[in-house]
Order: sequence, then structure tokens, then C-alpha cells
Amino acid sequence: MEYFEVHGGIPLKGDVNVSGAKNAAFPILSAALLIKGKMRFYNLPKILDILSFLEVLKDLGVDVQEEKDYFIIDTSKDISLKISSKEYYNLRGTQTLLGALVGRNGEANLPSLGGCNIGTRPIDLHIKGIKSLGVDIGWEGGYLRAKVKDTLKGNLVYLDFPSVGATENLIIAATLASGETVIENAAKEPEIKDLARFLNLAGANIEMNGSGVIKINGVKNLHPVDYKIIPDRIESSTYLIAGIMTKGDIVLKNCNPWDFESVIMKLREAGAEITANGNEVRGEYKEKLHSVNIKTLPFPGFPTDVQPQMMALLSTAQGTGVIIETIFENRFRAAEELIKMGANIRIEGNTSVITGVKKLEGGNVTAPDLRGGAALLIASLSSEGKSKIFEPFHIDRGYENIIKKIIGLGGVIERRNIA
Ligand code: UD1
Repeated sequence: MEYFEVHGGIPLKGDVNVSGAKNAAFPILSAALLIKGKMRFYNLPKILDILSFLEVLKDLGVDVQEEKDYFIIDTSKDISLKISSKEYYNLRGTQTLLGALVGRNGEANLPSLGGCNIGTRPIDLHIKGIKSLGVDIGWEGGYLRAKVKDTLKGNLVYLDFPSVGATENLIIAATLASGETVIENAAKEPEIKDLARFLNLAGANIEMNGSGVIKINGVKNLHPVDYKIIPDRIESSTYLIAGIMTKGDIVLKNCNPWDFESVIMKLREAGAEITANGNEVRGEYKEKLHSVNIKTLPFPGFPTDVQPQMMALLSTAQGTGVIIETIFENRFRAAEELIKMGANIRIEGNTSVITGVKKLEGGNVTAPDLRGGAALLIASLSSEGKSKIFEPFHIDRGYENIIKKIIGLGGVIERRNIA
């Protein structure tokens, strides 16, 4: 059984290079299926989730070649409709294959969608949106089956909630549809902008002005392009929080500060000194942190994917902080493990109340999911003594070279195995 052994209490100091964004890579790689040809993708993070997704793409008939600084993705061959890769089931990122396969083949046949166990994760908005583009779609024998009735046709779609995945699926499916698609109440996450930028470079006509209305004028075909994925704003936020909670001083290299401004603002409010300079952000611990209140919201609000890491930080801040989680109903799973380390957290529905304690004690904890695992890692790095984090594969799913990066910042961490 694998675990991370962490010797905590050492301030993290130095530079850390931010990797490419996992949640931008998924829809962009899916959208690449709309194009026939060879493309180079730079800044694809070599993390478990993306490597598994590449296996799914191979299974569909895509040629994938790994080079030192980029991946070559060749989508020239026929793309299969059948998904047999077992990797598929653990990935939420596969959800955008729906729009991609409908756009490329006029048909999709997908097993149930996977991902972190952080809530029920319905896909009604995806189904409603794709249906309105002229697609017969529904569940049949555990499979989501979609088939274009006549041709894919643009339409006006209103999303009841600005769902990231539904917005991405609609952008992808509408790119090669005839006529105009307008998505109202669309998600505004930076990963959506990155998807639109990639498709526009390949010849699509997607207009996104940040107002939550996206206009897609269907084009006849797309051409191959080489593309560099944006930096990961969640990884950026995680290291920033780790630096501050360990009373350190770290500089994020190659990040987009405007993509995680809400996190920067909250850390400043808690008493940290954060300075942004171009594509660099420095986070310094200056004084005892004090509690802040957080409510997770769609972008540009505070990201749900950084909520568990902030919970870890608040567990030793002065005073009481309240976190309201409005996106996923099952996202406080790290709390139980933080309590084992001495945290004082009370949960009531979608609200958690965290009263800062003097210090956390190292302990044996289990990563409940990806970001919950990151929260436990931050807590272990800042706590006194030795911690073991079990099921670290959750963390590996989303953080590239995490052990190397933490050691580079002066942290003491090792990947170990018990027979
Ligand atoms: C994406 C991210 C995930 C992040 C989330 C919110 C990927 C691979 N994952 O997930 O890391 O936490 O955005 O920023 O990009 N909903 C419905 N019906 C639907 C779709 C969604 O009710 O058809 C609800 C969900 O249950 C949830 C909310 O909408 O409560 C947000 O979900 P959504 O934005 O779709 O998240 P994902 O795309 O799954």
C-alpha cells in the first residue's frame, strides 16, 4: 500500500513552476477530435488523470506520441464509437467526449461518467443542451446514447446553472453545427476561454465576451493547430496556500494571477502578503493568520476546487471562519481527517465552521478525493511531527511531480510503500 510520508513544520521557501491546467486539457483534447490531423500540445500536465485520458483517446483510435516538451496527437484515423478502456470510469474529464463525438461522428455512446466522489454530479444540463442542437439523446442500458437526427443545428440554449462541463460540451458540439448557437448563463471559467481560444485558432467562430453569453457560429471544418495549455489555477492556489500555511515564502512561476484572484484576495484578507508581477506570484507569511469566511461560487467567485485547501489553512488561523459550499454537496470530506490532526471543524449541511487551533499534530490520514488530498498534504506540511497520507493516488491525479516540487521548496516528503 502506497502512502506519502511527510515531516512537517518546515516553512516552504523558493520558486515553484506551475504545470498546465488539468481542467483545460480535458476539453481541449476532446475538442481535438473535431479536427483531422497531427497537433502538438505543450504544457499538458503529466498527471494520472491526463495520462488515463490519453489512454481513452488511444482506445478511440487517436495516435498519441510523447516527446520531451509536448505530446503529438494525431486524429487522422477513424474515431471509434465504442469505449472499452477501463480508465474511462474514474475520470470526470471524459464528459466532453459527448460533444466531441457528436460533432465528429454524429453519434456518441458513453458509459456512465466518473470523477471524484464530491456529489451526485447530474448531467441533465448537458443532455438538455445537446438535445436542443438536434440530437436524440438519453440513457439506454447504462449508456448515454446520442445520435444526430438530421444535421447538427445551432440553437439558443439557456443553462439553469453555469455548468463548466455543459458549457464545454455545447461549445464543442456547436462548433461544426450549422448556424448560430447562443449559450446563455454559460460558465466563465478560464478553462472555457482556453477551449474557445484553441478552437478559434483551429478555425472556429466562437465569441466570448465574459458576460456569460457565448455565441458560436458554426463552421464547415477545422484545421490542425499546435497549442499550449494555460497554467493550472488550482495547482497555483494549492502551492500558495501551502507556502503561507507553513509560514514560508514561495514564488509561483509561469502562472496566470488573474485566474485565481479570488484566492489571492482571500489570502490577503487572512493576513498573507501576496504580490503579483506579470506571470509570477509571491506569497509571504508575515503575521499570524486570522480567519476569513468563504462561499464557493462559479468563476470569478471562490473556486470549489480550492475550498478544502482553505479549510486546512483556516484550521490554524486565529478566530472562527465559515465556509459555505454551494457547488458540490459532498465536498467537506477532508474535514474528518483534519479533525484527526487536531482541527476544530463543525459541519452542518453545506456549511462548515472552523475554529482555529494553535497547531495541528501529524497523524495517519487518508486522502478522500483529489483536492481533499491536497488539503491533507498542506496540513501535514505545516503540522508538527510525522504524517502518513494514504491513498495518495488521489493527489497524483491532479498534481504533476508533487514530491519533487515540494522537496524543491524545502519540504520533507517521501513516497513509500508498505508491503
Ligand atoms: C468542473 C471541474 C471540477 C470543478 C467544477 C466546478 C472538470 C473536469 N472538472 O466539473 O474540477 O470542481 O467544474 O468548478 O473540468 N450540474 C447539474 N447538472 C448538470 C451539470 C452540472 O445540476 O448537467 C451541477 C453539478 O451537480 C454541480 C454544479 O452544477 O452542483 C457545477 O457542476 P459543473 O460546473 O458542471 O462541474 P463539472 O464540469 O462536473
